[in-house]
Amino acid sequence: MKKQKVNVKLDTDFGGIVLRNTNNASKLLHPLWIRERTEGPADFDTINYQRLYDHSTLPADLKITQCEVTDCDRLDVEFNDGYQSNISLTKIQHEIGWRENPEDLPVPKPWKTGFKFSDHVKWSNLNDPLNLKAMLDDFLTYGFCIMRDTPTERDCLLQLASRFGYVRDTNWGKIFNVETKPDATDAAYKDVALAAHTDNPYRDPIPGIQFLHCLTNDVSGGLSTLVDGIAVADRLHDEEPEQARILEDVIVRYRYQGPSAILENFGPTIERDHIGIVRRIRLSSRVDFVPALDPKTLNLFYAGRRRLNELSNSPEFQISFPFRPGTLLMMDNYRLLHGRTAFDGKQGHRLLQGCYTDHDGVCSLYKLLANGRDLTSVARED
Ligand SMILES: [Fe+2]
Repeated sequence: MKKQKVNVKLDTDFGGIVLRNTNNASKLLHPLWIRERTEGPADFDTINYQRLYDHSTLPADLKITQCEVTDCDRLDVEFNDGYQSNISLTKIQHEIGWRENPEDLPVPKPWKTGFKFSDHVKWSNLNDPLNLKAMLDDFLTYGFCIMRDTPTERDCLLQLASRFGYVRDTNWGKIFNVETKPDATDAAYKDVALAAHTDNPYRDPIPGIQFLHCLTNDVSGGLSTLVDGIAVADRLHDEEPEQARILEDVIVRYRYQGPSAILENFGPTIERDHIGIVRRIRLSSRVDFVPALDPKTLNLFYAGRRRLNELSNSPEFQISFPFRPGTLLMMDNYRLLHGRTAFDGKQGHRLLQGCYTDHDGVCSLYKLLANGRDLTSVARED
C-alpha cells in the first residue's frame, strides 16, 4: 500500500471532515470520531495513551467548524464548543485502511507438508531486535517457531517463555513435565503416539501459546508433529462445505475432571473471525461432548469431525521434527494442532517441559518492536 497524498475538506453541513485520496476514494469522518482521537495536551496521557476525559462528557451535537493541514502530517481542528486540537493524518489513514500500519500483525499464511520451515532460530540471536522481530513475523505468519541452543537447566523455561509474555499458572502449575511415567493414565506420559490435537479446550480462556522445551532426549522416535488448522479447516470446507459449516455452528462442551479441578468451556470445533479467517480449532478427542442434537445434524457433525481428524493426521498436512536438548517449540494453540510419533521409553529418558502464555504478550512485543522500541523482553509496568 503506497503512501498517498490526501486532500482534506470541511463538510459544513455535517460538521465532519472529508478525506479524498489520489485514487479518488473519499471518506466522511464523524466529528465525534475525530474528537476522540485528537492529540493535544489535554487529550491523551503521554505515558499510557489513555484519554484524559470520559467521552460521555463530549457534546452530542459536536461539529467541526474549522480545519487546516498545518504541515505534512498534522491536521488542526476547531470544534463548535470552542475546543482546538490537532490530529495525525497518518494515524487517521492507518485506521481507515488507506495506509499500511507497521503495527499491523502479519496475515496468517496456510501451510502443509513440503512447506520449508526454519528450525534453526538460535536462541542467542534473538538478542538482536531485528532477529527477534523476524522471528515474531514468522510465528505470526505460520503459527510456530522452533528455537535451538536454549539453556537446558530444569525450569529455565519460565525465563525463556517470559520473554514472550506472562506464563499462565494453572492447576498443573506454571510448568508441566512431559516424560514417561510408570502406571501413567494420560497418553502424554506414555511412549505411545499422540494424535493431532489442540490443548485444553476446556479452560476459560483456552491457553493461547504453548511452549515445549526439551531438556533430555535419549530415545529415537518421539518426533513432534504439527498441523496448520487453517489449512485443514479450509480443505474440509472445500471438500464438504455442509460438514464444515456444522463444525462452525455447533457449540461443543469440553470438560476436564481431575482431583483438584473441574474445568468446562464451550465453543465450535472450527471458529472463523469476522472476515472469514480460521482463528481457532478445538480438536481434542478425549474431552469433547457434543449436545444431543437431531440425528441429521449429528450425522453431519460426526462425519465432519472424523474427516477433520483424518486430515489433521494425514501425511499431506503434517510436518515433524525431532526434539534435541535445547530445542524450544513455541506454537499457537488456537491455530495449530500438535502431536507426537511413538518412541520406545525403555531406550532412555525423554524429558520435555511445557508451559502456556497468551497471545497478547507476543502481539505487544511485535508492536513495540514495530515502533522501534529496543526491547528484548516484556517488562512489567508499575
Ligand atoms: Fe498437547
